[in-house]
Amino acid sequence: MMTGRFITLEGGEGAGKSTQIRLLAQALAARGLEVVTTREPGGGSDGAAAIRSLLVAGDTPWQRLTEALLHNAARHENVEALVRPAIARGAWVLCDRYVDSTVAYQGYAMGVDRRILTDLHRLSTGGLMPDLTLVLDLPVAAGLARAGTRPGAEDRYERMGTAFHERLRQGFLDIAADDPARCVVIDATANIETVQARLLDAVLARLPPAKGSA
Ligand code: TMP
Repeated sequence: MMTGRFITLEGGEGAGKSTQIRLLAQALAARGLEVVTTREPGGGSDGAAAIRSLLVAGDTPWQRLTEALLHNAARHENVEALVRPAIARGAWVLCDRYVDSTVAYQGYAMGVDRRILTDLHRLSTGGLMPDLTLVLDLPVAAGLARAGTRPGAEDRYERMGTAFHERLRQGFLDIAADDPARCVVIDATANIETVQARLLDAVLARLPPAKGSA
């Protein structure tokens, strides 16, 4: 049976994930791999997209557990409709945010108990974890300044204040330190080309493509 790869990109606001995931997809496709990109919340199905608009726009004051449940509901859609079938047919799936974002945002930054988040992850995905997670790290002020220049109304989390974003950054660094076999922290303060080269190096070092596809 073919088995693909599952790679996630994580990090706070303004870390450049969407640009970097697009460039990484191009670089891997150029090596002959089937690459599928998706994002959370919102990727995978119309239902997930509908849940995204509830979560990232507006001012709805969710209970924090409700918020964790909604992110997990969107994740269930993405995993069942897109991620799992793609991995099964041998594709490399690149996902912009996944369970580490829930642990960092709803856990570290908002205070939902870690054991509850672990249980929800098992329920919504069967415990599916990435083969590799790339954490884009940069100082909070730099990230918020970059994020603030983006157009659009998807700024609910961006508006949560500096202390929230500091807890978030520390959360991602703790997650990576706790699981070094899966996670690589990438300094995202450099320019786009440099960060891209670091990401690609990390992917090819950790997950060398099979002979014939590289
Ligand atoms: P994006 O701006 O990277 O597309 O992500 C949307 C927002 O959702 C972002 O501010 C982070 C937040 N988020 C969570 O709070 N928990 C999650 O589990 C995920 C996937 C995203």
